[in-house]
Amino acid sequence: MSVITTLTRMWLTKSFKPFTFKNEYDENLPIDECENLGLYIHIPFCKNICNFCPYCKVLYNEELCNDYVDALIQEIHLVCSSYKDKKNVTSLYFGGGTPVLAGNRLKEIISTINDYFTITEGIGIELHPENVNNETLNMLKEAGITKISIGIQSFNKKYQSILGRNEVNIEDIKSALNKVSFDTVSMDFIFALPGQKFEDLKEDVEKAVYAGANHIAIYPFIDFTFTNSNVKSLNKDEKRKLLDDITEYFNENKYIRSSIWTFSNNKNASYSSMTRDNFLGFGCSATTLLKKQFKINTFDIKSYCKRIEEKKLPTSLTIRFTKRQRMIYWLFWTAYSTKVNADDFKNFFGVSLEKIYGFELWLAKIFGLITRKNNIYEMTLKGAFYYHYYENFYTLSYIDKMWSIMRENPFPKDIKL
Ligand SMILES: C[S@@+](CC[C@H](N)C(=O)[O-])C[C@H]1O[C@@H](n2cnc3c(N)ncnc32)[C@H](O)[C@@H]1O
Ligand code: SF4
Repeated sequence: MSVITTLTRMWLTKSFKPFTFKNEYDENLPIDECENLGLYIHIPFCKNICNFCPYCKVLYNEELCNDYVDALIQEIHLVCSSYKDKKNVTSLYFGGGTPVLAGNRLKEIISTINDYFTITEGIGIELHPENVNNETLNMLKEAGITKISIGIQSFNKKYQSILGRNEVNIEDIKSALNKVSFDTVSMDFIFALPGQKFEDLKEDVEKAVYAGANHIAIYPFIDFTFTNSNVKSLNKDEKRKLLDDITEYFNENKYIRSSIWTFSNNKNASYSSMTRDNFLGFGCSATTLLKKQFKINTFDIKSYCKRIEEKKLPTSLTIRFTKRQRMIYWLFWTAYSTKVNADDFKNFFGVSLEKIYGFELWLAKIFGLITRKNNIYEMTLKGAFYYHYYENFYTLSYIDKMWSIMRENPFPKDIKL
């Protein structure tokens, strides 16, 4: 599998050089050179651990959670206090884990962020279905949250039991969402589960809209090597049919495709912490993507807090990009939105997209993977499937490998991908 990603990397970066992450970091992150910056904060606590979930998280413990939030606030100060002016950022997203478990500290975290940044497009948070009640939603609203994303996974008992998740009471969710409104109400589903048919997924989407969602995320199930899950995903053809059928359903019902996995029925609803040119991440396992580097914080909570106590950044690994590597990174994450604007590429790199990747774009057009309107390249249905297919390889050969190592070792010497 990694042969495909290695060959693609060599072809597109025109180099044999692997992506090399080293145990080093900059004391002062060069954020001033970054436009279109987004923020991400990771809260790694859950009430129960789902065996399919790859994210950095541990069982909730009140004392540990409080110590962690103290350290998190210090990390924000450590990274930002050397910058003179307040900087505009598009958004702030809280992910996890289950970030509401630190709900009593959200206002404090947001107020620390507001000391350094002006957020222009709202604040989002991931929720577990059990968090969706009047009291919690009101608390979030009061803290300034404008977008919520609820991890439903499935409303169907069969798939809930495959994933080991509890039943979701749709009427309770609907009633809570009716009373407290947010700009974006997104619901996450995992699809391509064993035996899953288009009708099952369509029913999930219809129930989500009935309950109050205006934005839907459908993620294909990924079987990470280090999780304890024994669920096997559908095969390639079955997955493609399911993805094509549900995309067609969204098209027929006039949904807007806002990214490869997300669809909304309201043009103002959006939820994505990924499709940013640059982002700053705080907390365990959080990543930071800047103009010339990408860095990852340690996955270990105790090591994270210790580093902060020593007044050092909790960065575990940093990669300093060659220009071609950064271009690949930019293209990969921009293509996640299913569109690439050639003008944006030129603005970011000072050279035209066609000059660097003219042949590849021509090939992609010949194979029916993309179309071009004005200066915007857009993925076709076939293109979106193959992007997904390639992303799956990328996830299993890059992210899976990196996360497996980082779960075991808080500060590995280096990782070559
Ligand atoms: C951090 S969780 C969401 C919030 C909350 N903790 C919950 O479980 O409801 C983020 C999302 O990642 C997706 N996810 C988790 N594990 C996955 C896997 N193995 N394959 C595909 N998607 C996955 C799920 O849809 C999940 O809602
Ligand atoms: S899916 Fe959500 S609740 Fe389950 S372990 Fe992952 S982060 Fe926690």
